[in-house]
Amino acid sequence: MQQLLKIKSKQTVALDTVEMVLENKAVSQIAVPGQFLHLHVDGHMLRRPISIADADPSVHTVTILFKILGEGTRKLSTYQIGDVIDVLGPNGNGFPLVNATKNSVLIVGGGIGVPPLYYLAKKLTESGVTITAVLGFQSKEHVFYEGEFEELGKTIVVTNDGSYGETGFVTNISKEALPSIDEYYSCGPLPMLQAVKERWNNIPGYLSLEERMGCGIGACFACVIPTDDHGGYKKICQDGPVFSAEEVQL
Ligand code: FES
Repeated sequence: MQQLLKIKSKQTVALDTVEMVLENKAVSQIAVPGQFLHLHVDGHMLRRPISIADADPSVHTVTILFKILGEGTRKLSTYQIGDVIDVLGPNGNGFPLVNATKNSVLIVGGGIGVPPLYYLAKKLTESGVTITAVLGFQSKEHVFYEGEFEELGKTIVVTNDGSYGETGFVTNISKEALPSIDEYYSCGPLPMLQAVKERWNNIPGYLSLEERMGCGIGACFACVIPTDDHGGYKKICQDGPVFSAEEVQL
């Protein structure tokens, strides 16, 4: 659905990383973790898919976080409190919360893949699930939401250059540093998701795939991903962005 969302607050939470709290009653009531909003940015034909980092229907707000990567997101970062954004969404299928009957869930996020996992982690802990979060960033100045995740469960931050937390990649964390895990949920760049899928291939997992999108509503085929060796495919924007790990070929 097409909606207008008003910017209620805006802050820079890490290097080139902006958090915006947007107001819209309907979107706040129906958004589920893993879904995204498709934002129109003035002067740009293609909308920008930005995942939902939080939603609070009691105050009619939806939170998004985005990294300034190109002209579109740079323009978006100049929007001010009170400005209104034209949005399609919430779009896509989110994380399967109905399956969250497991006791111990591992959350693995990388960079701008971290925000949707925050909303997910909140919902999981609300339903009594114990979460452990492993969050990977390039370096110290890119780290965000560490405190927010710590309020929900054990949180391990990893930086590629070792300037903060553990050094290396999210998949470097030793088995001893993690509790026993029933299921994992992950979002981040493709190489990270490939490594995550391989590392935890013995337990069920769900992956949220980040992909540049065109239409965002299943009409243009810009975002297809193979699902088997026989030419099968799914659309990330419509069938995902969340898939079970065994369902997709990365
Ligand atoms: Fe157009 Fe997915 S972005 S089909």
